[in-house]
Amino acid sequence: MPSGPPPPIAWAPDHQIRLLDQTLLPGEERYILLDHIEQMAEAISLLRVRGAPLIGIAAAMGVASAARRLGAAATRHGVDYDCRMLRATRPTAVNLAWALGRMQSRAATVAEGLPLGESMVAEAQAIWDEDRLMCDRIGDAGLPLVPEGATVLTHCNAGALATGGIGTALAPVYRAHAAGRKVQVVADETRPLLQGSRLTAWELTRAGIPTTVIADGMAASRLRLGDIACVIVGADRIAANGDVANKIGTYGVALAAQAHGVPFYVAAPRSTFDSATPDGAAIPIEERHPDEIRRHGGAAARQTTPPEAAVWNPAFDVTPAALIRGYITDAGLLTRMELHRLA
Ligand code: MRU
Repeated sequence: MPSGPPPPIAWAPDHQIRLLDQTLLPGEERYILLDHIEQMAEAISLLRVRGAPLIGIAAAMGVASAARRLGAAATRHGVDYDCRMLRATRPTAVNLAWALGRMQSRAATVAEGLPLGESMVAEAQAIWDEDRLMCDRIGDAGLPLVPEGATVLTHCNAGALATGGIGTALAPVYRAHAAGRKVQVVADETRPLLQGSRLTAWELTRAGIPTTVIADGMAASRLRLGDIACVIVGADRIAANGDVANKIGTYGVALAAQAHGVPFYVAAPRSTFDSATPDGAAIPIEERHPDEIRRHGGAAARQTTPPEAAVWNPAFDVTPAALIRGYITDAGLLTRMELHRLA
């Protein structure tokens, strides 16, 4: 029986955190030990750890480990400083700011002069445990969308490598597979950092779920074939009006799905819903280094763009709510008009 993916994060002895370095997958399964908050900031910035819910969990664990290491010297001021630094690493995923906000609020409940470390660890663990539970509920809510024989198309990686549990977009697929249904996934490669081909295909094939990788530019043609039951993607932030920021390329998939009458769903826990952001235009979009486009292939990269050419590298795009059939959430499968239930 093939195994699922290993947990991408764990507490380690001596106030360290153990991370699966996702930049090295699928070629190498290497774990790194982090023992400073700056290392966590670097790991999040470089996408060693990634996926909106998981970076919230990882950042919270980083803050907790730092506080525990400092012992009696840990202060609220120090927690606030660490949270500000980590919050700046990736601006689009609201789960990061949400989790760090929880850490700061919890720190504020600890009386001045009392040790902070244990409360910080408890809060980080609670964020992780709640996320695992929300993934399970998303899987249950999305299960009817993945019947026997279904093929699901997805973009980027919103699976176990991106969350504290079985994922968001991939949770209904895992549930369907566990229920004995023969299901399969078409995974967009996801340029430029290849989260679809490197990570989604890795975790699904390890779990024994047949997966076909396509280059991003093939998604429209594949949707036209008529064999895709639905598209399910994750989200980095969902605005109050239901517009969704997710990995760059998601918007194009949503347009193609609409053109071919294929239902397009967004799966996300309530920590991804941001009622303070009115619509997609107000979502901050992270722009990343041009070399991610100029030099294709990570560490073994070779130049694929002439140096004279300008490069635009937004990490996310916004899919308007009008293109989204439904939201698969921990509170059930919701329409745009029902999103207020998550408040
Ligand atoms: O840049 P990444 O790899 O962190 O982007 C991840 C995505 O876009 C995911 O779809 C999103 O964070 C949801 S993960 C459950």
